Amino acid sequence: MADIFEQTMQKLAEFHIESPRLEARILLAHVLNCQTSDIICNATLNSKQQNELKSLIQRRIAHEPLDKIIGKREFYKSTFMTSNNVLSPRPDTEILVEEGLKIIPVDKNINILDLGTGSGCIIESILQERPKAVGVAVDISSAALQTAKQNAANLKLINRLQFVQADWFEEDFAAQFAAEFDIIVTNPPYIPTADIAALAPEVKNHDPLLALDGGADGFASYQRIAEFTPILLKKRGYILLEAGINQAEEIANIFTAQGLKLKNIVRDLAGIKRCVILQK
Ligand SMILES: C[S@@+](CC[C@H](N)C(=O)[O-])C[C@H]1O[C@@H](n2cnc3c(N)ncnc32)[C@H](O)[C@@H]1O
Repeated sequence: MADIFEQTMQKLAEFHIESPRLEARILLAHVLNCQTSDIICNATLNSKQQNELKSLIQRRIAHEPLDKIIGKREFYKSTFMTSNNVLSPRPDTEILVEEGLKIIPVDKNINILDLGTGSGCIIESILQERPKAVGVAVDISSAALQTAKQNAANLKLINRLQFVQADWFEEDFAAQFAAEFDIIVTNPPYIPTADIAALAPEVKNHDPLLALDGGADGFASYQRIAEFTPILLKKRGYILLEAGINQAEEIANIFTAQGLKLKNIVRDLAGIKRCVILQK
């Protein structure tokens, strides 16, 4: 087994995959249907498993992201199913969950709106930690909503989460929601259109364009969301937004121009201003 592990690792390294040791372990565990910690002491692969591993390595060295090959990724405290229809959940985004949980009391009946839910990772992670909260997950992509629904079912959250397919650029977007929300969370597309071609192949070829393209300057969705946020938020309600690199101040300006108060800009572990928090 050590040999197969070594060979897999070397092949990934040869093609400049960033964490070859870790990824080799994950691919092998996937093929063997075991925990990554069991890899070293496991038996050899049968020929079917060898073929499967070979095909997974080929996909990975062609820069398909690991989570899309094995169909799942860890985010915050849970495992989320991924697909080509959703953005792969990123560790950077966990800060929205952490900051949301600081604001939401454990024992309150709160309703949360997630704009651009993708895999559902943000709102579903929050709902898991706040058993009295309920939510609405919106996405323009019905295929993304299917993945978010499947994740909600796996996490036993279906009874507390509604799914709405809608485009926030539609004029009457806000009118479809019967109630106001205590909290809005959102990680909208924020890459300037012209920058997409320079992204890593794992991102530009495998994350949906709808999840990346933030318009000419990257701020198109923030501008639009800021227009209807005062309508959808309760008085003193909060909105938490993910920001791309060097975007946080401009996002804060866009929302304060609509009358919201800036409460905080929180840096991620890499020191990037990643989460903008405003209050109505
Ligand atoms: C950056 S991804 C975020 C996905 C997920 N929330 C996360 O953090 O991993 C943005 C999401 O917004 C959705 N989206 C893009 N434009 C939209 C629009 N006009 N209306 C509704 N959803 C939209 C995309 O389909 C995508 O799922």
